[in-house]
Amino acid sequence: ESTGQTAIAHTNIALIKYWGKADSALNLPTTSSLSLTLNEYFTKTRVEEAAEDTLLINDLPQDSQRVHDFLNVLREEKGDFSPVKVISENKVPLSAGLASSASSFAALTAAVAKYNGWDLSLEELSRLARRGSGSATRSFFSGFAIWEKGSNDHDSFAHEFNVPDLPIALVVCKISGTVKKVSSSDGMRRAQTSPDYDQWVAESAKQLDEMKQALSQGDLDRVGQLAEANALAMHDLNLTATDRRFTYFNQNTMKVLEQVKVLREKGYLAYATMDAGPNVKIITNQEQAPAIKDFLVERFRKIQFDIATPGPGISYE
Ligand code: DP6
Repeated sequence: ESTGQTAIAHTNIALIKYWGKADSALNLPTTSSLSLTLNEYFTKTRVEEAAEDTLLINDLPQDSQRVHDFLNVLREEKGDFSPVKVISENKVPLSAGLASSASSFAALTAAVAKYNGWDLSLEELSRLARRGSGSATRSFFSGFAIWEKGSNDHDSFAHEFNVPDLPIALVVCKISGTVKKVSSSDGMRRAQTSPDYDQWVAESAKQLDEMKQALSQGDLDRVGQLAEANALAMHDLNLTATDRRFTYFNQNTMKVLEQVKVLREKGYLAYATMDAGPNVKIITNQEQAPAIKDFLVERFRKIQFDIATPGPGISYE
């Protein structure tokens, strides 16, 4: 008991996406990104003494090269430590298709740091977690976070973006994946071969500025518009990749997207964002979320829907 440490990190959804690497060894992104940490999905990770590095996720032994490599990156960066057993409880339902790598690598970084008695700022934890998974940089902070792309290993990390209390909510549509899986890293590599890629990078910087303004002004409609435009443009890159173009969307993705438009025509606040899978997350406010969920439940009997709200930053047990 006394030789272990536990950290809890919540997952985050990007409203302005990270979709491309300037340096894949250091995991430096081509754009800065902005996310919302969610209350409903998290990973709880315990690190304890062991004879060799081992990993258990939801009670199942896993042989993850990615985790082994990441533990060694931490050793190189912050000093050697003895082998550890990593015990992870993932409360990010795979069916939700939310990136569990964000909360997993954030929780792992925090647990290892605490276990070794390293006294690190959230920004330094974020910088270290980047080497495990880019989206993990943003899972240390409550509410909104911005991962500043930076230009090197030392200045690429996330920070909290403080805004007046916003009643934002997401309706998470758990569309099951029948589409062949393309990992984020592979998807990005391919997207970066799109002739439209540089244009997307330029546009993304403008959208981030506007997003910061919209959030500061509490203009949720503008927040939704910008997030949807940014996400659809990201998914266009996958379709226009010259190296094996692809899509994460399936028929249900398209049908839900159609209903998001219908909801808007009916006067609802509803905008869509999608990540490396077929699921749609609908950006709305907390007042309208239940009605939007009911509307969709009626039309899609086989899809499950969750309502997600802003969540906390990293914590320890
Ligand atoms: C579409 O963080 O999973 O969710 O750095 O290779 O681990 P790696 O990628 P990852 O990419 C997330 C991509 C995204 C958009 C986002 O979260 O910004």
